[in-house]
Amino acid sequence: MKNEQWGNRAGFILAAVGSAIGLGNIWRFPYVAYENGGGAFLIPYLFALLTAGIPILILEFGIGKRGGGSAPLSFRNLNQKWEWLGWWQVMISFVIITYYSVIIAWAMSYTKFSLNLAWGEDTKDFLFGNFLGLTDSVWEVGGLQTHIILPLVIVWAIVFFTLYKGIKSGIERISKIVMPLLILLFLIITFRGLSLEGATLGLNHFFTPDWSKVWNYKTWVAAYGQIFFSLSIAYAIMITYSSYLPKKSDVNNSAFITAFGNSGFELLAGITVFSVLGFMAVQSNVDISEVAAGGVGLAFVVFPKVINTLPAFNELFGFLFFGCLVLAGLTSSVSILEVIVAAIRDKFNLTRQRAVVWVTAVCFSVSLLYATGAGLYFLDIIDHFINSFGVLLSGLVELILLGWFYQLSKIREDGNMTSDFRIGTWWEIMVKYVTPAVLFFISIQNVIGAFKDPYEGYPTSALLILGAGCALAAILLGYVFSKLKWHNPQHTSKKEVA
Ligand code: ALA
Repeated sequence: MKNEQWGNRAGFILAAVGSAIGLGNIWRFPYVAYENGGGAFLIPYLFALLTAGIPILILEFGIGKRGGGSAPLSFRNLNQKWEWLGWWQVMISFVIITYYSVIIAWAMSYTKFSLNLAWGEDTKDFLFGNFLGLTDSVWEVGGLQTHIILPLVIVWAIVFFTLYKGIKSGIERISKIVMPLLILLFLIITFRGLSLEGATLGLNHFFTPDWSKVWNYKTWVAAYGQIFFSLSIAYAIMITYSSYLPKKSDVNNSAFITAFGNSGFELLAGITVFSVLGFMAVQSNVDISEVAAGGVGLAFVVFPKVINTLPAFNELFGFLFFGCLVLAGLTSSVSILEVIVAAIRDKFNLTRQRAVVWVTAVCFSVSLLYATGAGLYFLDIIDHFINSFGVLLSGLVELILLGWFYQLSKIREDGNMTSDFRIGTWWEIMVKYVTPAVLFFISIQNVIGAFKDPYEGYPTSALLILGAGCALAAILLGYVFSKLKWHNPQHTSKKEVA
């Protein structure tokens, strides 16, 4: 029997914010914003936040509170036939956690490297050569990079013990310690970044809109992708977390606090990263576009270079920056793994401890694939596909099912009765019409784009097998799991939530 609950409201909100604020905020947001027109990106970003992010968060809090269990069980309790959607989202979380944990392991190694600036002068060569041992092509897997295994084991051990302890003494406790610490440390880095020569140059670059980009559909795809990934929506996290809410809990206000907290942190990260890049551009006398880099490069190539160049306290700055990445990533990892643990527990009637052992063992083993010489290729391809054809697509399906085949007003009324404030019909309009329409358009564009220009020029075989294969496997495995027998006598009845 699962009867765990959050200790108090602050605990729930900190856990939700802890899930939302993660690698996506510090490592992903700044370069996605930069690549998509800087200030101009903020327009679709804010639009996505208000029309999709917040409404879906309210919806998922409602589904979890009403459904009362893991994502598969909650969807099943709304409609017997929807269990597969929950499992699909669980599978997406499974895919994400296996590479997400590895990026935290890198950040952990880099936290240590900061202490003596071990990356040397050629930070690019250090990352791709010495550290990742990157092979020449995706199918050349190479060996396990043994030095990545130790930090990876530490990451998994922390996530394991947190989940083993349960909701209140595990997740809630770690969130209450880590989140205030993270915000404090990050503010220190932000102030340091802003005080550097050239910071304003960087900020001008970040906030000056490139209007031509606003009209490009790719900017919209990027904005929606960022909001979904960053806010932890459409891959079952917020449904799972809210299932541990007492019935009389607020949901509306909590959703707003979580969403604004997450976006506030995201903007802070953007400001920090760009003030530092401005400094770098001034120091090396080049244009800022020459120092900014996308993806992994920004945190693990450009930042070490900046840290080398700082006038003072280089090691401390590096330690704080990579330490923040680790802290932010850990609370998110905990939430992603809890999705799987809760689902397995519900279906197979396992104790939390047993489920945590099994789930961690499987996920850890799969994560080792990303610690090979081709790990970065795998990560890049799978991350791209699981976001475009997993997270966004499952979000679209969720909205269509809930918006068109369920009485949304029930969820709204339910939330309104116990929330600090009421939400109006605008919410239903977003959930039923506006966001599905945008997501539908985005999904079509994503499919066309996948055929027209293959992602990052990878071989078609890799894109098909790893990328499309993973996204498709998540759907199929989700379906298979939904067909397995329920071992939990409490949930074998066909009763739906009225
Ligand atoms: N929402 C988490 C992040 O932004 C997963 O990294």
